[in-house]
Amino acid sequence: MVSKKQIESAAEIIKSGGLVAFPTETVYGLGADALNPNAVAKIFIEKERPSFDPLIIHISNIKDVERLTKEHDHRVDLLAKMFWPGPLTIVLPKSDIVPDIVTSGLPTVGIRMPNNKIALDLITTAGSPIAAPSANKFGRISPTTASHVKKQLTGVECVLDGGPCQVGIESTVISLNRDGFVILREGAITSDNLQEAIPQSKEEKTKSPLASPGLLQSHYSPEKPLFILETKDMSTAGLLEYHLSNKKLPKGNGAFISFSGKKIPSFSHTEYLSKNRDLKEAAINLFSILHKLEDNLNIDYIVAESVPLEGIGRAIMDKLNKAAHRYNNK
Ligand code: TXA
Ligand code: MG
Repeated sequence: MVSKKQIESAAEIIKSGGLVAFPTETVYGLGADALNPNAVAKIFIEKERPSFDPLIIHISNIKDVERLTKEHDHRVDLLAKMFWPGPLTIVLPKSDIVPDIVTSGLPTVGIRMPNNKIALDLITTAGSPIAAPSANKFGRISPTTASHVKKQLTGVECVLDGGPCQVGIESTVISLNRDGFVILREGAITSDNLQEAIPQSKEEKTKSPLASPGLLQSHYSPEKPLFILETKDMSTAGLLEYHLSNKKLPKGNGAFISFSGKKIPSFSHTEYLSKNRDLKEAAINLFSILHKLEDNLNIDYIVAESVPLEGIGRAIMDKLNKAAHRYNNK
Protein backbone atom coordinates (compact mmCIF):
# COMPACT_ATOMS: atom_id res chain seq x y z
CA MET A 1 0.00 0.00 0.00
CA VAL A 2 0.94 3.66 -0.08
CA SER A 3 2.81 5.38 2.78
CA LYS A 4 2.42 8.95 3.98
CA LYS A 5 5.88 9.64 2.60
CA GLN A 6 4.87 8.43 -0.85
CA ILE A 7 1.79 10.66 -0.77
CA GLU A 8 3.97 13.60 0.21
CA SER A 9 6.43 13.08 -2.59
CA ALA A 10 3.59 12.55 -5.10
CA ALA A 11 2.03 15.81 -3.86
CA GLU A 12 5.38 17.56 -4.43
CA ILE A 13 5.34 16.32 -8.04
CA ILE A 14 1.82 17.74 -8.50
CA LYS A 15 2.84 21.07 -6.93
CA SER A 16 5.83 21.37 -9.23
CA GLY A 17 3.71 20.78 -12.34
CA GLY A 18 4.30 17.06 -12.88
CA LEU A 19 2.02 14.04 -13.37
CA VAL A 20 1.00 11.39 -10.86
CA ALA A 21 -1.12 8.30 -11.52
CA PHE A 22 -3.30 7.46 -8.54
CA PRO A 23 -6.11 5.08 -7.58
CA THR A 24 -9.74 6.11 -7.25
CA GLU A 25 -12.69 3.85 -6.48
CA THR A 26 -13.67 3.82 -10.18
CA VAL A 27 -10.46 3.53 -12.24
CA TYR A 28 -6.89 4.87 -11.89
CA GLY A 29 -6.48 8.53 -12.82
CA LEU A 30 -3.57 10.47 -14.37
CA GLY A 31 -3.44 13.66 -12.36
CA ALA A 32 -2.01 17.15 -12.60
CA ASP A 33 -2.61 20.42 -10.75
CA ALA A 34 -5.96 21.49 -12.23
CA LEU A 35 -5.13 25.18 -11.91
CA ASN A 36 -1.78 24.91 -13.76
CA PRO A 37 -2.39 24.86 -17.54
CA ASN A 38 1.17 23.73 -18.36
CA ALA A 39 0.83 20.76 -16.04
CA VAL A 40 -2.58 19.85 -17.51
CA ALA A 41 -1.10 20.00 -21.03
CA LYS A 42 1.24 17.14 -20.03
CA ILE A 43 -1.79 14.90 -19.43
CA PHE A 44 -2.99 15.36 -23.00
CA ILE A 45 0.51 14.62 -24.33
CA GLU A 46 1.07 11.51 -22.19
CA LYS A 47 -2.39 10.11 -22.95
CA GLU A 48 -2.26 11.10 -26.63
CA ARG A 49 -5.68 12.55 -25.95
CA PRO A 50 -7.33 14.99 -28.38
CA SER A 51 -7.66 18.48 -26.95
CA PHE A 52 -11.44 18.55 -27.48
CA ASP A 53 -12.01 15.99 -24.70
CA PRO A 54 -12.45 17.78 -21.33
CA LEU A 55 -11.03 16.55 -18.01
CA ILE A 56 -12.72 15.99 -14.66
CA ILE A 57 -11.47 17.97 -11.67
CA HIS A 58 -11.10 15.94 -8.47
CA ILE A 59 -11.60 17.63 -5.13
CA SER A 60 -11.24 16.52 -1.52
CA ASN A 61 -13.29 19.29 0.06
CA ILE A 62 -16.81 20.33 -0.96
CA LYS A 63 -15.79 23.98 -0.46
CA ASP A 64 -13.77 23.75 -3.67
CA VAL A 65 -16.97 23.54 -5.72
CA GLU A 66 -17.59 27.18 -4.89
CA ARG A 67 -14.31 28.47 -6.28
CA LEU A 68 -14.36 26.24 -9.35
CA THR A 69 -17.92 27.14 -10.40
CA LYS A 70 -19.81 30.28 -11.28
CA GLU A 71 -23.04 30.09 -9.37
CA HIS A 72 -24.34 28.06 -6.48
CA ASP A 73 -26.88 25.35 -7.30
CA HIS A 74 -28.53 23.87 -4.20
CA ARG A 75 -28.96 20.54 -6.00
CA VAL A 76 -25.18 20.08 -5.87
CA ASP A 77 -25.38 20.08 -2.06
CA LEU A 78 -28.07 17.39 -2.16
CA LEU A 79 -26.13 15.27 -4.65
CA ALA A 80 -22.87 15.71 -2.74
CA LYS A 81 -24.52 14.74 0.51
CA MET A 82 -25.80 11.52 -1.00
CA PHE A 83 -22.99 10.51 -3.38
CA TRP A 84 -19.70 12.21 -2.45
CA PRO A 85 -17.15 10.99 -1.99
CA GLY A 86 -18.22 8.63 -4.76
CA PRO A 87 -18.57 7.84 -8.46
CA LEU A 88 -20.57 10.90 -9.57
CA THR A 89 -19.22 13.74 -11.74
CA ILE A 90 -21.32 16.90 -11.93
CA VAL A 91 -20.86 19.27 -14.88
CA LEU A 92 -21.40 22.90 -13.84
CA PRO A 93 -20.73 26.40 -15.25
CA LYS A 94 -17.05 27.05 -14.56
CA SER A 95 -15.41 29.99 -12.78
CA ASP A 96 -12.53 31.97 -14.27
CA ILE A 97 -9.85 30.19 -12.24
CA VAL A 98 -10.41 26.95 -14.21
CA PRO A 99 -8.02 26.98 -17.17
CA ASP A 100 -9.62 26.47 -20.61
CA ILE A 101 -7.35 23.54 -21.33
CA VAL A 102 -9.08 21.55 -18.55
CA THR A 103 -12.53 22.03 -20.06
CA SER A 104 -11.44 21.99 -23.73
CA GLY A 105 -12.75 25.51 -24.02
CA LEU A 106 -16.24 24.65 -22.73
CA PRO A 107 -17.89 27.08 -20.30
CA THR A 108 -18.56 24.15 -17.95
CA VAL A 109 -16.41 21.95 -15.72
CA GLY A 110 -16.89 18.37 -14.49
CA ILE A 111 -16.20 17.95 -10.77
CA ARG A 112 -16.11 14.93 -8.49
CA MET A 113 -14.87 13.87 -5.06
CA PRO A 114 -13.41 10.36 -5.38
CA ASN A 115 -14.07 7.77 -2.68
CA ASN A 116 -10.52 6.62 -2.17
CA LYS A 117 -8.30 7.59 0.76
CA ILE A 118 -5.10 7.76 -1.28
CA ALA A 119 -6.75 10.05 -3.85
CA LEU A 120 -8.25 12.30 -1.17
CA ASP A 121 -4.94 12.50 0.76
CA LEU A 122 -3.08 13.32 -2.44
CA ILE A 123 -5.45 16.18 -3.32
CA THR A 124 -5.38 17.57 0.21
CA THR A 125 -1.60 17.33 0.53
CA ALA A 126 -1.03 18.89 -2.91
CA GLY A 127 -3.23 21.78 -1.78
CA SER A 128 -4.92 22.06 -5.17
CA PRO A 129 -7.72 20.29 -7.01
CA ILE A 130 -6.41 17.64 -9.41
CA ALA A 131 -7.50 17.29 -13.04
CA ALA A 132 -7.42 13.64 -14.05
CA PRO A 133 -8.69 11.48 -16.87
CA SER A 134 -8.47 7.71 -16.66
CA ALA A 135 -4.79 6.69 -16.76
CA ASN A 136 -4.82 4.90 -20.11
CA LYS A 137 -3.76 5.85 -23.63
CA PHE A 138 -6.64 7.53 -25.45
CA GLY A 139 -9.30 5.07 -26.64
CA ARG A 140 -7.71 2.05 -24.92
CA ILE A 141 -8.90 -0.03 -21.96
CA SER A 142 -9.20 1.87 -18.67
CA PRO A 143 -6.89 0.80 -15.82
CA THR A 144 -8.16 -0.76 -12.59
CA THR A 145 -4.74 -1.72 -11.18
CA ALA A 146 -1.36 0.03 -11.00
CA SER A 147 0.12 -2.51 -13.40
CA HIS A 148 -2.52 -1.68 -16.03
CA VAL A 149 -1.34 1.94 -15.78
CA LYS A 150 2.35 1.01 -16.10
CA LYS A 151 1.61 -1.14 -19.15
CA GLN A 152 0.21 1.80 -21.12
CA LEU A 153 1.76 4.95 -19.65
CA THR A 154 5.45 4.14 -19.58
CA GLY A 155 6.37 7.83 -19.35
CA VAL A 156 4.74 8.33 -15.94
CA GLU A 157 7.25 7.84 -13.15
CA CYS A 158 4.98 8.16 -10.15
CA VAL A 159 2.20 5.56 -9.95
CA LEU A 160 0.61 5.21 -6.51
CA ASP A 161 -0.43 1.59 -6.07
CA GLY A 162 -3.66 1.32 -4.09
CA GLY A 163 -4.58 -2.16 -5.28
CA PRO A 164 -7.57 -2.98 -7.49
CA CYS A 165 -10.37 -0.40 -7.84
CA GLN A 166 -13.56 -1.07 -5.89
CA VAL A 167 -16.10 0.03 -8.52
CA GLY A 168 -14.14 -0.77 -11.67
CA ILE A 169 -15.82 1.52 -14.21
CA GLU A 170 -15.82 5.28 -14.61
CA SER A 171 -18.06 7.68 -12.70
CA THR A 172 -21.56 8.60 -13.82
CA VAL A 173 -21.33 12.04 -15.48
CA ILE A 174 -24.34 14.35 -15.29
CA SER A 175 -25.14 17.93 -16.16
CA LEU A 176 -27.86 19.97 -14.48
CA ASN A 177 -30.39 21.92 -16.50
CA ARG A 178 -32.84 24.40 -15.07
CA ASP A 179 -35.47 21.77 -14.37
CA GLY A 180 -33.73 18.45 -14.80
CA PHE A 181 -30.53 16.51 -15.23
CA VAL A 182 -28.94 14.79 -18.19
CA ILE A 183 -26.84 11.63 -17.84
CA LEU A 184 -23.86 12.22 -20.12
CA ARG A 185 -22.12 8.96 -19.19
CA GLU A 186 -23.60 5.91 -17.48
CA GLY A 187 -21.90 4.67 -14.32
CA ALA A 188 -22.54 3.05 -10.95
CA ILE A 189 -24.96 5.80 -9.91
CA THR A 190 -28.16 5.34 -11.88
CA SER A 191 -30.99 7.61 -12.91
CA ASP A 192 -33.15 6.20 -10.08
CA ASN A 193 -30.42 6.93 -7.54
CA LEU A 194 -30.17 10.52 -8.79
CA GLN A 195 -33.91 10.97 -8.75
CA GLU A 196 -33.93 10.05 -5.08
CA ALA A 197 -31.40 12.75 -4.22
CA ILE A 198 -33.06 15.50 -6.29
CA PRO A 199 -36.73 14.45 -6.56
CA GLN A 200 -37.78 17.78 -8.07
CA SER A 201 -35.49 17.25 -11.07
CA LYS A 202 -36.38 14.78 -13.79
CA GLU A 203 -33.99 13.02 -16.11
CA GLU A 204 -33.95 14.65 -19.53
CA LYS A 205 -33.10 12.20 -22.27
CA THR A 206 -32.49 14.63 -25.08
CA LYS A 207 -28.82 15.23 -25.24
CA SER A 208 -27.03 17.27 -27.79
CA PRO A 209 -24.10 15.42 -29.36
CA LEU A 210 -21.93 18.33 -28.32
CA ALA A 211 -22.93 18.13 -24.65
CA SER A 212 -20.01 15.88 -23.82
CA PRO A 213 -17.38 15.86 -26.52
CA GLY A 214 -15.40 13.01 -24.98
CA LEU A 215 -18.20 10.49 -25.39
CA LEU A 216 -17.04 8.93 -28.63
CA GLN A 217 -18.63 5.84 -30.07
CA SER A 218 -15.37 3.93 -30.04
CA HIS A 219 -13.52 3.72 -26.74
CA TYR A 220 -12.19 1.33 -24.08
CA SER A 221 -10.89 -0.90 -26.88
CA PRO A 222 -8.59 -3.87 -26.45
CA GLU A 223 -6.03 -4.27 -29.19
CA LYS A 224 -7.97 -7.26 -30.48
CA PRO A 225 -11.34 -7.56 -32.20
CA LEU A 226 -14.22 -7.70 -29.76
CA PHE A 227 -17.77 -8.80 -30.54
CA ILE A 228 -20.92 -8.90 -28.45
CA LEU A 229 -23.14 -11.94 -28.24
CA GLU A 230 -26.69 -11.48 -27.03
CA THR A 231 -27.51 -13.92 -24.23
CA LYS A 232 -30.55 -15.12 -26.18
CA ASP A 233 -28.19 -16.37 -28.92
CA MET A 234 -26.24 -18.52 -26.49
CA SER A 235 -27.42 -21.84 -27.89
CA THR A 236 -25.17 -23.50 -30.47
CA ALA A 237 -27.72 -22.59 -33.09
CA GLY A 238 -27.61 -19.02 -31.92
CA LEU A 239 -23.85 -18.94 -32.25
CA LEU A 240 -24.15 -20.30 -35.73
CA GLU A 241 -26.58 -17.56 -36.51
CA TYR A 242 -24.04 -15.15 -35.12
CA HIS A 243 -21.40 -16.47 -37.51
CA LEU A 244 -23.77 -16.11 -40.38
CA SER A 245 -24.92 -12.66 -39.48
CA ASN A 246 -22.80 -9.86 -40.79
CA LYS A 247 -20.37 -10.08 -37.88
CA LYS A 248 -18.06 -12.78 -39.19
CA LEU A 249 -15.63 -13.90 -36.52
CA PRO A 250 -11.94 -13.78 -37.39
CA LYS A 251 -9.73 -16.86 -37.75
CA GLY A 252 -7.77 -18.15 -34.77
CA ASN A 253 -8.51 -18.64 -31.07
CA GLY A 254 -11.44 -16.88 -29.53
CA ALA A 255 -11.89 -16.07 -25.85
CA PHE A 256 -15.39 -15.89 -24.43
CA ILE A 257 -16.38 -13.52 -21.63
CA SER A 258 -19.36 -15.15 -19.93
CA PHE A 259 -21.90 -13.46 -17.69
CA SER A 260 -24.57 -16.18 -17.56
CA GLY A 261 -21.98 -18.75 -16.44
CA LYS A 262 -22.40 -20.67 -19.67
CA LYS A 263 -19.46 -21.77 -21.79
CA ILE A 264 -19.28 -22.11 -25.57
CA PRO A 265 -17.45 -25.34 -26.47
CA SER A 266 -15.73 -23.96 -29.56
CA PHE A 267 -13.93 -21.29 -27.53
CA SER A 268 -10.52 -22.26 -26.16
CA HIS A 269 -10.69 -19.81 -23.27
CA THR A 270 -13.50 -18.58 -21.01
CA GLU A 271 -13.49 -15.75 -18.46
CA TYR A 272 -16.38 -15.17 -16.06
CA LEU A 273 -17.51 -11.60 -15.37
CA SER A 274 -19.15 -12.74 -12.16
CA LYS A 275 -19.61 -16.22 -10.72
CA ASN A 276 -22.98 -15.25 -9.23
CA ARG A 277 -24.34 -13.08 -12.05
CA ASP A 278 -23.74 -10.06 -9.85
CA LEU A 279 -23.54 -6.88 -11.96
CA LYS A 280 -21.44 -4.97 -9.40
CA GLU A 281 -18.87 -7.74 -9.41
CA ALA A 282 -19.02 -7.82 -13.22
CA ALA A 283 -18.21 -4.09 -13.33
CA ILE A 284 -15.21 -4.59 -11.04
CA ASN A 285 -13.87 -7.41 -13.24
CA LEU A 286 -14.65 -6.02 -16.71
CA PHE A 287 -11.53 -3.97 -17.50
CA SER A 288 -9.19 -6.45 -15.76
CA ILE A 289 -10.50 -9.28 -17.93
CA LEU A 290 -10.12 -7.16 -21.08
CA HIS A 291 -6.52 -6.30 -20.10
CA LYS A 292 -5.76 -9.97 -19.42
CA LEU A 293 -7.15 -11.10 -22.78
CA GLU A 294 -5.38 -8.27 -24.59
CA ASP A 295 -2.08 -9.47 -23.07
CA ASN A 296 -2.68 -13.18 -23.80
CA LEU A 297 -0.77 -14.00 -26.97
CA ASN A 298 -2.82 -17.16 -27.54
CA ILE A 299 -6.03 -15.20 -27.98
CA ASP A 300 -6.87 -13.65 -31.36
CA TYR A 301 -10.30 -12.22 -30.71
CA ILE A 302 -12.86 -11.80 -27.93
CA VAL A 303 -16.61 -12.42 -27.77
CA ALA A 304 -18.41 -10.93 -24.77
CA GLU A 305 -21.86 -11.99 -23.63
CA SER A 306 -24.28 -9.12 -23.09
CA VAL A 307 -25.42 -8.32 -19.54
CA PRO A 308 -28.88 -7.15 -18.39
CA LEU A 309 -29.52 -3.41 -18.78
CA GLU A 310 -30.24 -2.93 -15.09
CA GLY A 311 -28.40 -0.74 -12.58
CA ILE A 312 -24.68 -0.71 -13.35
CA GLY A 313 -25.39 -3.15 -16.21
CA ARG A 314 -26.21 -0.16 -18.43
CA ALA A 315 -22.70 1.22 -17.88
CA ILE A 316 -21.14 -2.21 -18.51
CA MET A 317 -22.99 -2.50 -21.84
CA ASP A 318 -21.98 1.05 -22.73
CA LYS A 319 -18.31 0.09 -22.27
CA LEU A 320 -18.72 -3.19 -24.18
CA ASN A 321 -20.55 -1.51 -27.07
CA LYS A 322 -17.83 1.13 -27.34
CA ALA A 323 -15.06 -1.48 -27.12
CA ALA A 324 -16.77 -3.44 -29.90
CA HIS A 325 -17.67 -0.45 -32.05
CA ARG A 326 -14.76 -0.43 -34.46
CA TYR A 327 -15.12 -4.14 -35.26
CA ASN A 328 -18.87 -4.17 -35.63
CA ASN A 329 -19.06 -1.27 -38.00
CA LYS A 330 -16.65 -2.24 -40.73
O1 TXA B 1 -14.35 7.76 -12.77
C1 TXA B 1 -13.92 8.69 -13.46
O2 TXA B 1 -14.65 9.61 -13.85
C2 TXA B 1 -12.43 8.65 -13.85
C3 TXA B 1 -11.62 8.82 -12.57
C4 TXA B 1 -10.13 8.95 -12.83
O3 TXA B 1 -12.09 9.89 -11.86
N1 TXA B 1 -12.13 9.68 -14.80
C5 TXA B 1 -12.50 9.63 -16.08
O4 TXA B 1 -12.05 10.67 -16.86
O5 TXA B 1 -13.17 8.73 -16.54
P1 TXA B 1 -12.05 10.66 -18.45
O6 TXA B 1 -11.26 11.83 -18.83
O7 TXA B 1 -11.57 9.35 -18.94
O8 TXA B 1 -13.53 10.92 -18.85
C6 TXA B 1 -14.10 12.18 -18.57
C7 TXA B 1 -15.29 12.44 -19.44
C8 TXA B 1 -14.94 13.20 -20.71
O9 TXA B 1 -14.57 12.35 -21.76
C9 TXA B 1 -16.21 13.93 -21.02
O10 TXA B 1 -17.04 13.11 -21.78
C10 TXA B 1 -16.83 14.15 -19.65
O11 TXA B 1 -16.15 13.33 -18.74
N2 TXA B 1 -16.65 15.56 -19.25
C11 TXA B 1 -15.67 16.13 -18.53
N3 TXA B 1 -15.85 17.47 -18.43
C12 TXA B 1 -16.98 17.74 -19.10
C13 TXA B 1 -17.70 18.95 -19.40
N4 TXA B 1 -17.29 20.15 -18.96
N5 TXA B 1 -18.82 18.86 -20.14
C14 TXA B 1 -19.25 17.67 -20.58
N6 TXA B 1 -18.61 16.50 -20.36
C15 TXA B 1 -17.50 16.53 -19.64
MG1 MG C 1 -11.24 7.60 -20.00
